[in-house]
Amino acid sequence: MAANQSPQRFAHIIGWGKYVPPNVLTNDELAKRVDTSDAWIRERTGIMERRIVTKETTAMLGLYAAQEALEVADVAPNEIDLIIVATSTPEYIFPATASVIQDQLGADNAGAFDLSAACSGFVYALSVGAAMVRSGQHNTALVIGAETFSKILNWKDRATCILFGDGAGALLLRASDQPGGILSTVLGSDGSGGDLLNVPAGGSRNPASLETVMNNLHTVKMNGREVYRFATRVMVDATKQALVKANLPLAELDLLIPHQANARIIDYAARTLQLPPEKVFQNVEHYGNTSAASIPLALVEAIEAKRVNPGDHLVMVGFGGGLSWGSCAVEWTAPTDKRLITPQRAAQSRLRYRWANFKSFSHRVLRRVDSGVTHVLDRIEGRQNGHSG
Ligand code: ACO
Repeated sequence: MAANQSPQRFAHIIGWGKYVPPNVLTNDELAKRVDTSDAWIRERTGIMERRIVTKETTAMLGLYAAQEALEVADVAPNEIDLIIVATSTPEYIFPATASVIQDQLGADNAGAFDLSAACSGFVYALSVGAAMVRSGQHNTALVIGAETFSKILNWKDRATCILFGDGAGALLLRASDQPGGILSTVLGSDGSGGDLLNVPAGGSRNPASLETVMNNLHTVKMNGREVYRFATRVMVDATKQALVKANLPLAELDLLIPHQANARIIDYAARTLQLPPEKVFQNVEHYGNTSAASIPLALVEAIEAKRVNPGDHLVMVGFGGGLSWGSCAVEWTAPTDKRLITPQRAAQSRLRYRWANFKSFSHRVLRRVDSGVTHVLDRIEGRQNGHSG
């Protein structure tokens, strides 16, 4: 390294968390709503049940997952420089769900934005977060995938409503001069397939109107067969590309964390790549397709199942609306074998989030008081200067 060259930086995953709403919707329960059956859903998708929000919102799911990630890493919210939320079901069109979570965490030093790339969104967000960390722009980035797809489903369309569920996952990235962490990322898009999987209304092309609501245009539309064909191709290609970019032979891949859309798509990718079942993680049976949340949710469950260890090479690979796809090779470096969240740490966090809530509330009140007082003073000043009104 030349004397004036700064040391190479790496982006390591140091924290991870997940949250799913407790409410379970089984295939049998779904079969009471639409013309389907448990047998059909299991055979064609591998899904047995999914979680569906009752009162929770996307920001709440993302917040809980993020809190767990911070506790695992023992990092305080004010150490975060950047929060990215990958979602297609944001809290609002704006402000960003990431800003809502930033406020509730009390992450006072963080920039925050949402990223929309459908089910590939988490890999896209991870790629951006890692690039920011590696470039030296930021030291600590929180990347969240959070979705409430149940809110944009047509519960009368059996071809789509059986597939999706709600949930969130989060990873915390930190800069280090030690090699490892995020090794490579691959991002792709083919916008010519945008009509194969979309929500037609609610944007600038078809703003919300009585007609769009009556015609159910605010819900997911999908050409399942075409998406299936696309998915099987890109899962394999993108996995190989991430490995090549990271200079890793396929034999050194320890665990593939694929987007959990359909067990048949995952099995096809595993067969084509000649990966044995122990090298592929799958939890689609319990959650269905949670879109941008599915990959971090699967990764966290793989860690909990002790299938991720320091030194392991992982690939996360996703596909979805856009059409879009993305993959990411990782050398895992964080210890996963001990119970990371101690009761003291959890208690300290609870206190911290109460304080963040109180601060946010007092900021809102002060802003209103300030605006009211300023208004009154302006009027008084106007009268004194002889203006009316
Ligand atoms: N229950 C019973 N029958 C059904 C159901 C259902 N829930 N859904 C469809 N069928 C019927 C169809 O009407 C069709 O009947 P027909 O032959 O009389 O016309 C028959 O089952 C076969 O339908 P296909 O669509 O050919 O079924 P397929 O085997 O392709 O499975 C599926 C459908 C599961 C949707 C599959 O195509 C798939 O998984 N595609 C990929 C979808 C995906 O991954 N989407 C997420 C992308 S990520 C994102 O960005 C959101």
